[in-house]
Amino acid sequence: MSVELCGVELDHPVINGSGTFDVIAARRVFGSAVDAEFPFSAFVSKTITLLPRGGNPPPRLFETPAGLINSIGLPNRGLAGYLEHDLPELARLPVPLITNVMGSNADEVGQLFEALEDRTEICALELNVSCPNVKTGLDIGSDPAELSKLLAAVRPKSSKPLIVKLTPNTANVALVAAAAEASGADAVSLINTLRAYAPSPNRAAEAWLGGGTGGQSGPAIRAVALAQTAAVAKAVEIPIIAMGGIERADHARQFLELGARLVAVGTSNFRDPLAAARIRESL
Ligand SMILES: Cc1cc2nc3c(=O)[nH]c(=O)nc-3n(C[C@H](O)[C@H](O)[C@H](O)COP(=O)(O)O)c2cc1C
Repeated sequence: MSVELCGVELDHPVINGSGTFDVIAARRVFGSAVDAEFPFSAFVSKTITLLPRGGNPPPRLFETPAGLINSIGLPNRGLAGYLEHDLPELARLPVPLITNVMGSNADEVGQLFEALEDRTEICALELNVSCPNVKTGLDIGSDPAELSKLLAAVRPKSSKPLIVKLTPNTANVALVAAAAEASGADAVSLINTLRAYAPSPNRAAEAWLGGGTGGQSGPAIRAVALAQTAAVAKAVEIPIIAMGGIERADHARQFLELGARLVAVGTSNFRDPLAAARIRESL
């Protein structure tokens, strides 16, 4: 079951999707049991940005027949808060830590890369160029040329393995993935949420979510995720971390058979925090 990701040996191919498993909160509730039966072979932090962000106004979630539209807006303590409060906690996890970062331009991303460079607790960086909840990032991740420009500027600033988390909200994800590989990405992950709209109950023109639009995740996006994973697997040689609506081992296996090296469980964690453990067991 063990797999290698960018030089790091992992016990099995199931990890978490960024922002979908708050391990620090879980530890507060369940104590050391969380570490003893940790469901993932590596842990991906939620996205951090250079400065703290409060996130979007509520409501932030809207349940759909087969998933969830979220408009969380990347609330986080910012780089300094992450280093002071979250990193010491995450460093105690029994698995390697991947830190997910996002910036609105090359300067911000470069500063994040440089600040994390000497943190040996972090085994790899995941660069989020795909979150549809905020204005930053979207244009870069949806355009191969913009992404190449960003990576050319920031890749030299980190020696850590770099995973580029692609956006599904683009005309041709394979072209973007190929641009990421050519510009120094060591792996790609996909898919992030699909841009979606949740109408207020009696006024469709009024957005239900405080942030306006949101991102659809869960089983509703699995077929899109399979299509994009297949397209990207044909376009790149670097490892692929695939996600999007994975609820069961047979779903995970489909992504692995299409060429993914790892799979990530996201929205399913909210319904069942042990979903990933179940998937790993039956794989
Ligand atoms: C509530 C929520 C918060 C998320 N936060 C982040 C985030 O901070 N950074 C990120 O790169 N992706 C984030 N994502 C996207 C997931 O990591 C994943 O790419 C997406 O949800 C698709 O997988 P799923 O259908 O299994 O949830 C978030 C998704 C959800 C549902």
